[in-house]
Amino acid sequence: MFLGIDLGTSSVKLLLMEKDGEVIKTLTKDYSLSFPKPTWAEQDPNEWWEVTKNGIKEILQNADKLSLKGISFSGQMHGLVILDKDDEVIRPAILWCDQRTEKECNYLNNEIGVEKISEYTGNMALTGFTAPKILWVKNNEPENFEKIRKIMLPKDYISYMLSGKFATDTSDASGMLILDVKNRKWSKEMIDILSIKEEMLPKVYESYEVVGNIKKELAKEFDVLEDVKIIIGGGDQAVGAVGTGAVKEGLVSVALGTSGVIFAPLKNYEADKNNRLHSFCHANGEYHQMGVMLSAAGALKWWVENINNSEDYLKINEDIEKICIGSENLYFLPYLMGERTPHNDSNARGCFIGLSITHSNAHMSRAVMEGISFALNDSMEILKDMGIKIEKIRISGGGSKSKVWKQILADIFNAEVCSINVSEGPALGAAILSAVGCGEYKTVNEACEVIVKDKEIVEPIKDNVEIFTKHYDKFKNLYPLLKETFKNLQ
Ligand code: XUL
Repeated sequence: MFLGIDLGTSSVKLLLMEKDGEVIKTLTKDYSLSFPKPTWAEQDPNEWWEVTKNGIKEILQNADKLSLKGISFSGQMHGLVILDKDDEVIRPAILWCDQRTEKECNYLNNEIGVEKISEYTGNMALTGFTAPKILWVKNNEPENFEKIRKIMLPKDYISYMLSGKFATDTSDASGMLILDVKNRKWSKEMIDILSIKEEMLPKVYESYEVVGNIKKELAKEFDVLEDVKIIIGGGDQAVGAVGTGAVKEGLVSVALGTSGVIFAPLKNYEADKNNRLHSFCHANGEYHQMGVMLSAAGALKWWVENINNSEDYLKINEDIEKICIGSENLYFLPYLMGERTPHNDSNARGCFIGLSITHSNAHMSRAVMEGISFALNDSMEILKDMGIKIEKIRISGGGSKSKVWKQILADIFNAEVCSINVSEGPALGAAILSAVGCGEYKTVNEACEVIVKDKEIVEPIKDNVEIFTKHYDKFKNLYPLLKETFKNLQ
């Protein structure tokens, strides 16, 4: 039996899996998220650990505890966790969606220079990434910066608490902007730029590798064997891609969670010369290209729950189905928390454009869903432009439950969109990595072949494709026209 732990932004999800992929049990436990200032987002790593530890105890209750062989992780990426000489957390973790580092990114991209940063890491500096956060602490909280002895990512903190091993993996570390992604090792140049030392950084493993055994006292507390292995796991996108079987070139994954992600596995390292997408290591030991929009299903949730004060997604979906494509020329830009791919603009904001007296709430709902889908298509277009093949699209995450949304995506992407036989995404991916680490499968790809299968296939409808193409062309023009306005709003 294998345990996958997905340390998310609003909750931790735990999943017990048999070797053949059968999910025995899942459990989700929430924790708090604080926004100390607009565009800041923080969380307490001690709370992650408390909640996760209780979650492990709870999920193992009434399970065959002695058959647990390994534990692995998927983690929200980019978050900065810093520990002092006593291994105490110095300050709350600064999360992936926090946008406070614009100045530090300008320093890295403009003063050090984007060509150099990209040569060292394969990527350019973005506000969400970890390295600019380290610089922010240095610039704004020098007393905390002085105390730093260990720097790690969210899931690495949980792995550290469970195993005592200071470790990370290539997929998650790719999002730090300190890893030389091509060569899968820390960049000495970046370490110097950040004024840190290499010993402050964890040892880098591949996501399916064992870092050690569970601590003896925890084995006792959880009532499991002392040789339960801790496998380091990876960033939630790479591990989520394992959970959807997106481990082979040509099979592109679209994850419709709070954020929206287009993920294209690659056998060999490749980077876009303009850094439009992220060039990261994959959890199967290979590489991937990825586009991330910050508010995807999160923007729909905002619209349904915060604005419409409802939780009735069924009704929203029915409303959307009744409205024709394009919502009678109503457009929605989903940049509620700024945007990463493709605009890389923390000032960008959401808006409806084209409202008229004839528009109803249902038109606005449809515009929200279409706007999110168009914004995802921005990443798909870059993949095409880079010559990356897209043979099939696998969709996962909360948004994949909506039939109308899947059809909209198939029509906008003009490609087959499949959902799969499993729906646990990153938590399942983590359990799969654990099984691979324990030697149950030779490779991550082999495990995915056995465990993840296509379920429902949605084909694009030719007439819709044409109409959507026209609307996407209009959508594409809106952000450039508003860029300056967004800046002036700040
Ligand atoms: C990936 C990213 C998000 C976070 C939170 O680059 O920022 O996927 O990991 O889920």
